[in-house]
Amino acid sequence: MMNLFESYTFSNGISLKNRVVMAPMTNYSSNADGTVSDSEVAYYARRSKGVGLVVTACTHVTENGKGFPGQFAGFSDQFIPSLKRVADAIHEGGAKAVLQIYHGGRRSIPEEVPNGEIVSASDVAFPGNATPRPLTIEEIKEIVKAYGETTRRAIEAGYDGVEIHGANTYLLQQFFSGYTNRRTDEYGGSLENRMRFPLEVVDEVKKAAEKYAKEPFIVGYRFSPEEEEETGITMDQTVKLIDALAGKELTYLHVSQGEFFTKPHRFSGDKNKTRVEILLDTIHGRTPLIGVGSIYSLEDAEKASESGIDLLALGRELLIEPDWVQKAEAGDHNIPTKIDKSKQKELVIPDPMWKMLHRPGWIPGM
Ligand SMILES: Cc1cc2nc3c(=O)[nH]c(=O)nc-3n(C[C@H](O)[C@H](O)[C@H](O)COP(=O)(O)O)c2cc1C
Repeated sequence: MMNLFESYTFSNGISLKNRVVMAPMTNYSSNADGTVSDSEVAYYARRSKGVGLVVTACTHVTENGKGFPGQFAGFSDQFIPSLKRVADAIHEGGAKAVLQIYHGGRRSIPEEVPNGEIVSASDVAFPGNATPRPLTIEEIKEIVKAYGETTRRAIEAGYDGVEIHGANTYLLQQFFSGYTNRRTDEYGGSLENRMRFPLEVVDEVKKAAEKYAKEPFIVGYRFSPEEEEETGITMDQTVKLIDALAGKELTYLHVSQGEFFTKPHRFSGDKNKTRVEILLDTIHGRTPLIGVGSIYSLEDAEKASESGIDLLALGRELLIEPDWVQKAEAGDHNIPTKIDKSKQKELVIPDPMWKMLHRPGWIPGM
């Protein structure tokens, strides 16, 4: 069992003061011009004193990849000073800073992208959103390059690394999924072809890190293990993707789940194992794995620590209790696990994010 509060050193030599990670959380609070706002900087500063590593909200690598209002941009050099503000706030707290890089694909918002045109692997609309236009091969190559360019910007802005957002049904996942990818060229059809875009992005980001970073640099990859749609991603397919990714010498892999202990729905192997156990079997020590999902109390975290994961991420609990690590390390078994509705100011949560958290089922206590 890992000790959550012990330091951890990645194979590239970067050390974290403990094994608790702040999960990436979009906060809807950036300025209209795509720059980071003061309230966002304060939000990160408040949450960077306890955890070893902070993964930021996702930032879009091209202008047409914007999936949320109030999202900070990473698609042009003009945003480097803005990106730096978040990295500096995280470093001041004592944590390492990782920028999550992404493209929204079919989930991008027409009102927020040039000419209202959204793109994806194929013309399969996300429910309630406009129908995306399938990307040409030339455009796919441009987006691959854009991930590399945003990695360079992250380096120039002082980040310790980037996390490639291949999870939560955004563009990389849209290519990997047989439900959203109906292409018949080399980027669609077979599993191998559907993995091509995510793996090319990994290679490009690693190339940019090797070219521009003067010090060791983290390159992580986040993924969602299964989809509900009949032709969507199964656990068997994810095992193949993770096997390929584990051979890429990434700094870490990060599984995105709402519940840490979920078992697979569609898997030809042992369905009594949790997805995390299956992933650990597949990775076989080649790359560290970050786990996440509805971990609130110290007891939840201790139980998750027994699974064999290397690092544990907390999302909503760090909104509820920004001092979670300090309290848990002191052995506090009464850490709040529901948000106190009267404490938005003390919790330093920006107004647009606070408003979003009122959606039913988003966060306990609201
Ligand atoms: C408000 C909010 C915003 C989120 N934004 C992102 C995001 O930008 N990128 C991402 O990979 N996951 C995002 N997630 C998912 C979280 O990283 C995490 O996987 C999920 O909340 C489950 O962990 P938790 O139960 O500890 O919150 C978001 C979750 C919440 C609640």
